[in-house]
Amino acid sequence: MARDFSTVGVVGLGTMGAGIVEVFARNGIDVVAVEISEPALERGRVTLAGSTDRAVAKGKLAAADRDALHERVHFAVGLDALHSVDLVIEAVPEHLDLKQRIFAELDRVCRPETILATNTSSLSVTEISVATSRPNQVIGIHFFNPAPVMKLVEVVRTVVTSPEVVADVEALCARLGKVDVTINDRAGFIANALLFGYLNHAVGMFEAHYATREDIDAAMKLGCGLPMGPLALMDLIGLDTAYEILDTMYRRGGRDRRHAPVPLLKQMVTAGLLGRKSGRGFYTYERPGSPVVVPDEATPLATEAVVADGARAITKVGVVGSGTMATGIIEVFAKAGYEVVSVTRGMEKSAKVCEAVKTSLNKGVVRGKLAEADRDAALGRISWSATLDHLADVDLVVEAVVEELSVKKALFASLDEICKPGVVLATTTSSLPVIDVAMATHRPADVVGLHFFNPAPVMPLVEVVRTIRTSPEATATARAVCATLGKTGVVCGDRSGFIVNALLFPYLNDAVKMLEASYSTADDIDHAMKLGCGYPMGPFELLDVVGLDVSLAIQRELYLELREPGFAPAPLLEHLVTAGYLGRKTRRGFRDHSHR
Ligand SMILES: NC(=O)c1ccc[n+]([C@@H]2O[C@H](COP(=O)([O-])OP(=O)(O)OC[C@H]3O[C@@H](n4cnc5c(N)ncnc54)[C@H](O)[C@@H]3O)[C@@H](O)[C@H]2O)c1
Repeated sequence: MARDFSTVGVVGLGTMGAGIVEVFARNGIDVVAVEISEPALERGRVTLAGSTDRAVAKGKLAAADRDALHERVHFAVGLDALHSVDLVIEAVPEHLDLKQRIFAELDRVCRPETILATNTSSLSVTEISVATSRPNQVIGIHFFNPAPVMKLVEVVRTVVTSPEVVADVEALCARLGKVDVTINDRAGFIANALLFGYLNHAVGMFEAHYATREDIDAAMKLGCGLPMGPLALMDLIGLDTAYEILDTMYRRGGRDRRHAPVPLLKQMVTAGLLGRKSGRGFYTYERPGSPVVVPDEATPLATEAVVADGARAITKVGVVGSGTMATGIIEVFAKAGYEVVSVTRGMEKSAKVCEAVKTSLNKGVVRGKLAEADRDAALGRISWSATLDHLADVDLVVEAVVEELSVKKALFASLDEICKPGVVLATTTSSLPVIDVAMATHRPADVVGLHFFNPAPVMPLVEVVRTIRTSPEATATARAVCATLGKTGVVCGDRSGFIVNALLFPYLNDAVKMLEASYSTADDIDHAMKLGCGYPMGPFELLDVVGLDVSLAIQRELYLELREPGFAPAPLLEHLVTAGYLGRKTRRGFRDHSHR
């Protein structure tokens, strides 16, 4: 018969512990909440009260239920208060020796049948368990931050955890309304193993001044639909905790350099910049513990200020190309009120592009998102041409032709001859170095990358790529143009993958490696990232949508440019591509889509 968990203990009421207390108490379970000192206990009490008050204010919890919830929690200093609980979850800082000491003490204090669980993110549950005389009753119950919100729990069994204990804990997770994935004891389990390389990489980008904190975060939110950017997430996790997790993963997970904590992290922790909990991390918060970001000296100026900062006036825009991206970009500019000159390689192609733009605008009308008059006005602003000569008087050119360097270079050399001085010349390349294209002209200072996402009319992000030769005015112009298009332009350096692909694809590749190592299933990995980290799609769903061939090509580029051994494409990805399993477009990728 399944165990009845009527009272549980939680040790450590920090970022995670306070949330875990709330999860249990909300679900009718009595909690003994333990801290190391009176002040720490008081902090935990305040955190719990703040969180439940916010839930009441948002209408997610009735005031009476909040009061009942608080009555179920008994606060105490010291582990002795845990003598008669059915389960203990430990959530103290991520140090093995501290956790081992606590488990040895819990083993002494708790009843023999009590299950002892750790919320560790990266330490070995097995090593923690051997500090007790009951390793078969020790298990990992890894909640996600914030615990009351995130649906996922990773249940970690060691080689000695008894199957009954695993089953009882799985049943408990269901009772808490959580979805569990049960896995073996490996550094970072599923979610953190995939997440922390990405987070550390983002910190590295910030440290290298590759892009600002706002731009890195906006890129991942708007480009990938993530609930928060990586630096804001680091602040939420806590930089001290994140540092320890990375450090442990580096040591336990095969010394992958991508897990070696970026030096800036250590400096910030030493300086007491721990993230939200200390009121300052990558961002500054209203007060310690508050989720509200306030402006500080690094907060960028508003767009109007950028315009004043040397941005050039743009009224007429040339778009070169006739593919999906060019078509979308023509529509975006025309809708935003710009005069657009579309140049293709022949009037037949122009006619096709014109049809595609009309169809897309009509869809907007049918959906009630665009007035007929606005559609007609947008179409009226576009002129169609098959010769570059018509770009002689435009203020900005956006090139969106085939992704081949020789073709782009030849085109930019022609633009250099045709366009008037001061024009901003932009390439939409997603993988070629912008500087190569810029150097095909005699005006590299005016060349930028404008990396739109597909479909351009829908996706809110544009990466503005500045090369080492791009002028501040050209960058400011590009950014101001993005704002008038209703898009967020994030500025980044000229490196393979810019921001989004450089952070996204290695993570997807790591997921493939995890599957290949048989650590977990595609379904569980997808679940873990969606329910544990709030991703809109799991990595395998996304790979099948993007296309495995496209993903492999991007990953290869990253690997070739950055020579990071951890970026080497997963052999399984290469094999699937060779086998012609490219994702949804071939009806088979990581999953079989033939019946959908
Ligand atoms: N922060 C996250 O996003 C996250 C997510 C999942 C799991 N975890 C894991 O949860 C655990 C706790 O992390 P956190 O971020 O909540 O840390 P934290 O620093 O916010 O909180 C730790 C708490 O433990 C208390 N503590 C320290 N020693 C103690 C002792 N001897 N007895 C009782 N209490 C003690 C501290 O006073 C503090 O309140 C770590 O193992 C971490 O890896 C963290």
